[in-house]
Amino acid sequence: MGAKLLCLLLTSVLLAYYLYTPIPEDFEEPWKVMLITASFRAVGHLAEVADRLGLMHYMEALMLITAAEYIAPTSDENVTVSDTEFSGVAVRLYLPRRATDGLRRAVVYFHGGGWCVGQAGMKSYDHLTRWTSNKLNAVVVSVNYRLAPKYHFPVQFEDVYSVTKFFLQSSVLSQYGVDPDRVCVAGDSAGGNLAAAVAQQLLEDTEVKTKLKAQALLYPALQALDLNLPSYQKNENKPILPRSLMVKFWSEYFTSDPSLREAMASNRHVPVESSHLFQFVNWSTLLPEELKKGHVYAHPAYGSPELAQKYPGFLDARAAPLLTSDARLRGLPLTYILTCEHDVLRDDGVMYAERLRAAGVPVAHDHAKDAFHGAMMFVSSPAELAVGHRLLNGYIKWLDENL
Ligand SMILES: *[C@@H]1O[C@H](CO)[C@@H](O)[C@H](O)[C@H]1NC(C)=O
Ligand SMILES: *[C@@H]1O[C@H](CO)[C@@H](O)[C@H](O)[C@H]1NC(C)=O
Repeated sequence: MGAKLLCLLLTSVLLAYYLYTPIPEDFEEPWKVMLITASFRAVGHLAEVADRLGLMHYMEALMLITAAEYIAPTSDENVTVSDTEFSGVAVRLYLPRRATDGLRRAVVYFHGGGWCVGQAGMKSYDHLTRWTSNKLNAVVVSVNYRLAPKYHFPVQFEDVYSVTKFFLQSSVLSQYGVDPDRVCVAGDSAGGNLAAAVAQQLLEDTEVKTKLKAQALLYPALQALDLNLPSYQKNENKPILPRSLMVKFWSEYFTSDPSLREAMASNRHVPVESSHLFQFVNWSTLLPEELKKGHVYAHPAYGSPELAQKYPGFLDARAAPLLTSDARLRGLPLTYILTCEHDVLRDDGVMYAERLRAAGVPVAHDHAKDAFHGAMMFVSSPAELAVGHRLLNGYIKWLDENL
């Protein structure tokens, strides 16, 4: 009896310790956030164990959540949903059923998941894109680009680029009844990264005649040069994207070679030969005073040139859109950027908004002070958060008014 009681006590203490994450005071529904965080942490730990035991790659273990959340394409009274291919790349297509007088708007959407996990058919993404299609009476193309560790950069980028290019052909737009003047790219997290990169690349592609009306970047990852920005330091252990996981995602985008991950973890991966690129991510000039508070700008530390020679992707603007020159930013379309205060990627988005504005691009920047990375995904039960609905409504409202 005594032993059983002791066991129970020990288990409860361990469970409480596991569940306990300091949740910032301004979060609504702190208990729900704590449970969500604990579940993500548990999956992360299991993936780590599976990887160490040699059972499967860390990212393949994380991919099991994606599989568990998968739902087949299901049409409803408002939207016809189907899985198909555009230009050889898998996409999930949402076509509104509601009658319309004229042509429709369209959103080409890229899901998040660190270029390694995620799926257009995950319950949360399916909900988001279906909602977008229904609310805006818009055609939505949600792209199932290929993922790491099986495929590395630039495959992810090339997949989303070729889908976008295919869709922007006038014959394809007219087949779906889409107005060529009202098409945007959008994405969250790694998907926001891909959307920003696609919008930049389209500016230089003389084969594409249709111009994007807008880009919407939801808590995007935009650079891998400086992984010690104030937001990385301040939010190192915030839900649901700790710095260590973001470092894994970034390095895995380019290679499974652990030496890049280790160099990125200590922020010594950029060779001195590329030091000129630091001007594009210089938080000391690009962040507003209130976000710089308590941080001292230090000269970047440099790494060996070999890593950059082997894996030049992390210095490539197609992987890190913040590394693009001001002159190239000038032609970009109307931009929506959402950033969350409690997010390692906060400063990527804030700095991009600042650089786009300086380049004369019209930018709407929503900064959610009480939100964490990925919050917009939590809009259906059982993991439903009020803050998720608020962010989603802000994004849809902007699209409705600007696309
Ligand atoms: C269809 O759209 C209407 C109006 O927006 C909404 O009330 C209804 O819940 C939608 N149906 C589904 C299955 O989402
Ligand atoms: C960043 O900006 C500061 C001034 O705010 C400057 O002293 C520093 O040299 C800049 N660093 C780089 C790498 O551009």
